[in-house]
Amino acid sequence: MYSIETRSLTKFFGNVKAVDDISFKVNDGEIFGFLGPNGAGKSTTMMILTTLLKPTSGQALISGFDVSSHAKQVRQKIGFVQQETTVDEYLTGRENLLLQARLNHIPKDLIRQRIDDVLELIELSDKQNEPVVTYSGGMRKRLDIAGGLLHRPKVLFLDEPTVGLDIQTRRKIWEYIKKIHLEFEMTIFLSTHYMEEADKLCDRIGIIDEGKIQVIDSPEKLKNAMGNEVISLEIEKDEQERLFLSKLHKIEQITKINEDQNKITIFASRGTEVIPKIFQISSELKIKINSISLTQPTLDDVFISYTGHDIKSDGVAFNRKREHAKMKRLRA
Ligand SMILES: Nc1ncnc2c1ncn2[C@@H]1O[C@H](COP(=O)(O)OP(=O)(O)O)[C@@H](O)[C@H]1O
Ligand SMILES: [Mg+2]
Repeated sequence: MYSIETRSLTKFFGNVKAVDDISFKVNDGEIFGFLGPNGAGKSTTMMILTTLLKPTSGQALISGFDVSSHAKQVRQKIGFVQQETTVDEYLTGRENLLLQARLNHIPKDLIRQRIDDVLELIELSDKQNEPVVTYSGGMRKRLDIAGGLLHRPKVLFLDEPTVGLDIQTRRKIWEYIKKIHLEFEMTIFLSTHYMEEADKLCDRIGIIDEGKIQVIDSPEKLKNAMGNEVISLEIEKDEQERLFLSKLHKIEQITKINEDQNKITIFASRGTEVIPKIFQISSELKIKINSISLTQPTLDDVFISYTGHDIKSDGVAFNRKREHAKMKRLRA
């Protein structure tokens, strides 16, 4: 049984197809990420998975329970931290959690301990009796997350957990998410439009664009499937240069070599294996290497290759760019 499973999940708002025939499975204990731009359908999917919206068609299951027919069982299994912070500014951190605990029907005799535990986990114990209005953005988000943990859900949904926060605060939130994941052995489903967040945090990601999942895999595999790593090389002028290049051409992982004066750009499938070979050949021919660098494909490259556009660009040119990307993939 899967922690989360969707089968041809589809959601229309009027004529807008917000979620378009989405099927995927998330294993127990995975951190799974939806990576996509604004309007991609991330929040809508999460609202369906958390029983707050009904799908137009298709099915969604949490730990085997259908979100439509078994909403109550689903709610017991899940925690949902929405994008907009839901805490009350004029209450203290602890009071907010108390409210949340009551809403979640946590038995009275457990409430105090549960609150102490989550406050400690998220490192807000010191600040618990101060009004939230004095909290920073990062602290508010942590309090939000703490509220989602009170009833010890098996599956935690985080909708753009670090949006709008500065990069240092974002990195800290990632640490908390990893800690929570370990401590509670829970499945985490998060959405983001930050490449680095998906890359650093998720075991697997689904790239979602215009309501459709374009691809699902681990960040590593997605990047590796892009194939080409780029090695940039600068050598000292040398009469052996031609021989050097012809020997490089014989390295099996090298797919292409461009030369521009003494700058050589090498495209290779496994750059880290290629570099020692380059050094070996250059030392045999006594060619001096002035500089060498390896650039690996990033998740940005992956995103563009599957969607045809940068994650930040919006609307208009999507389809044209997508055709372009398809062509590129066909040619590759
Ligand atoms: N309540 C709603 N009514 C009408 N359209 C909606 C509603 N919620 C979302 N949409 C539309 O559905 C699409 C997906 O939105 P959303 O799921 O919020 O995307 P994301 O979370 O990836 O930014 C967008 O085109 C958005 O305008
Ligand atoms: Mg959203």
